[in-house]
Amino acid sequence: MQKTLIKLLFPIVGLLFAGLILFSYLRVTRERTQLIDDLDRRARVIAKSLSIGAMRAIRNPPTPDEEDLAERLSGQGRTMGIMVCETDGKLVARSAALADLKTCEDPEVQEVITDQKEKVLIRDEKGRTLHTLIFPLKTRSGDFVGSLAVVHEASYINKRIMSAVTWTTLTLAVLAIFISALTYFLSRRSFQRSVQQVLSWMASTKEPSESLPPPTESLLKPVTREVEKMAARLRAAKETAREVSEDRQASDLWTPARLKAHAVTHFGEKPLIVVSNREPYMHVKEQGRHKVIVPASGLVTSLDPVLRATSGLWIAHGAGDGDRDTVDHEDKVLVPPEAPSYTLKRVWLNREEEEGYYYGFSNEALWPLCHLTHHRPEFEEKDWQTYREVNEKFADAVVREFGKTRPFVLVQDYHFTLLPKLIRERRPDAIIGLFWHIPWPTPELFQVCPWKREILEGMLGANFVGFHLQSYCNNFLDTVNSLLPVRVEWDRFAVLHNQGTTLVKPFPISIQPWGERMISTEEEFQQKSLGLREQLELGNTRIVISVDRLDYTKGIPERLGAINRFFEKYPAYKTKVSFVQLGAPSRIHIPRYRDFVTEVEKLVDEVNWKHAEGSWKPVIFFKAHHDPKTVYTFLRMADVCIVSSLADGMNLVAKEFVAAREKGDGVLLLSEFTGAAREFQEAVQFNPYARADFAEAIRIALEMPLDEQQRRMTRLKVLVVENNVYKWAASLITEMAQTTEEVSAQKTDSVSRTADVSSI
Ligand code: G6P
Repeated sequence: MQKTLIKLLFPIVGLLFAGLILFSYLRVTRERTQLIDDLDRRARVIAKSLSIGAMRAIRNPPTPDEEDLAERLSGQGRTMGIMVCETDGKLVARSAALADLKTCEDPEVQEVITDQKEKVLIRDEKGRTLHTLIFPLKTRSGDFVGSLAVVHEASYINKRIMSAVTWTTLTLAVLAIFISALTYFLSRRSFQRSVQQVLSWMASTKEPSESLPPPTESLLKPVTREVEKMAARLRAAKETAREVSEDRQASDLWTPARLKAHAVTHFGEKPLIVVSNREPYMHVKEQGRHKVIVPASGLVTSLDPVLRATSGLWIAHGAGDGDRDTVDHEDKVLVPPEAPSYTLKRVWLNREEEEGYYYGFSNEALWPLCHLTHHRPEFEEKDWQTYREVNEKFADAVVREFGKTRPFVLVQDYHFTLLPKLIRERRPDAIIGLFWHIPWPTPELFQVCPWKREILEGMLGANFVGFHLQSYCNNFLDTVNSLLPVRVEWDRFAVLHNQGTTLVKPFPISIQPWGERMISTEEEFQQKSLGLREQLELGNTRIVISVDRLDYTKGIPERLGAINRFFEKYPAYKTKVSFVQLGAPSRIHIPRYRDFVTEVEKLVDEVNWKHAEGSWKPVIFFKAHHDPKTVYTFLRMADVCIVSSLADGMNLVAKEFVAAREKGDGVLLLSEFTGAAREFQEAVQFNPYARADFAEAIRIALEMPLDEQQRRMTRLKVLVVENNVYKWAASLITEMAQTTEEVSAQKTDSVSRTADVSSI
């Protein structure tokens, strides 16, 4: 490090010295000019004051007994003497001190006689430096009558200059040494501190759970970022190696390692690019500090493990108020923070963009349009414009990440219906998949959208569009068939259109096993569940859990209505069962969502007011953003889980509940309007709109014998374990790979056809 610092300091010191030399040179030159100017002025004053006497002497040369004009000044200060010459070069007077030095024949005297102009010269003569001013003598009428030379001893100028040079050099050298030493010590200190910080951080990254945050103030910040990326790659490689070796003994379950190997086989080292509106990790500021939260979103729950396994690139809207502080110059940050393994690139949206694109068109138009929940969609022209602009913005951000080889992009959800076509226009060779996380309505419902055709054309820019269920695929195919001039090949669920072919297929999404999520040890679980029971004053009551985003599609008022009916009908359950509702606030800038929270709070209050006994309350509404540990604990400690969505693409809470049932007991009450209901035939299914049936289903769940619970749960568990999120991602990757092959084959085919034609 010492050597590096010295190397760094070398140019600084060099520059400092060059500056010092320049400064001394300028100072000395200025001083010399000033001294000479002074002498010039003095000589001129003398010359002027003697000029009348000198002219008189030229006209009437003085007699030997008169006072010699030339001796009047000699020996005064530095003045050596004067010399008066006539125009023909005849000497009129000369100080004795100049006898050996100056004559009227000197060329400079002759020059003044010829030019009639003053002349100054400084010259070394006989071991001395002499300053000579030769002054033309002119009468008042302007007649030139001769010249007057005033000579000064000027050796003192050089002496003064020499001493100034010495002092300046000495002072500046001391200063230069001082500055260099100070720079050296200060940089050494901050360098050492930075290196120390980086070293401690690097050492801590060996153990992901104890990893310190990377130093943010460090001089070596760019190095930190590179090391972070490298560490993430190494960690992923290590993890893959570990899992691959475990896999050798395991069954053919899909694991992160298997998915990674699958991705590498199909994509090589090219990363899978995923685009979504919601980011997987959001940095928010809390009391001046950054906190990371994982947004409540099924999309995030399912895609994060896939990106971890494949070390891809996720592009999303940076919505957290601390997001900008945590990205690098490319707006990227490595995530997950505790063990970075993939890159998140954030795209920034201003307030108007967020308003029009996210709250407006995505969530006030498309969301209700696709959810059939009797909430009227709002189609605002302005929101649509912004939605289009934001899709363009994301298209540019995505394309900027492409290399030269064919890119693979997986676009997510209804926020980006136009993105596939926009990417295709910018990069025709890209392989694009679009996955739709929510239901797709019937053509009759969809056609109310004023921009239905642009939306469908945008989506058909993708090589394939995936939905959770075959019924959503059918609805989509019906919709494009009835609204666009396309051909639908029903036997292979393909749409042939002017941009090419789009396949439409079901890919039922799933979850990551809890065991991979560093949730808790058995002991931690016991402690946490006891803590929660205490905190919520649950005593020993049985728990019925619900976990939702606070969204009007989730059937929460319907659930509260059914709970009310349940206690009315079965009062014996009072004080014995508690309904816990974990509700994460969502999209709160939309009035419908704000009103919805108020409505839920009011209903909770009504049920509690009506049925509470002593300290027992039938409903505990826990409105907050819950971390996975809390969700897991509740799902595991509950007896029953209720999912009562009025419409839901899949609903991953249902799968999370099944996966959390370590002991294979518990009952899942599942709305028949969720995508999960198709797979989960063993769940107790119900219609959330039918209040009496719903209340009855609650009773059935609470009274279900343990062996039946276990029988049902075992089957559900098999489904969740076998069809995990890695399998889902693998099927999407396979689809992309097949599409690539087909596209390449079509290209070769058309090239060979062109060749055939040209050879005819
Ligand atoms: C649904 C959507 C996701 C969305 C999530 C949360 O699951 O399909 O795209 O991320 O809701 O909603 P939010 O608006 O908070 O992202």
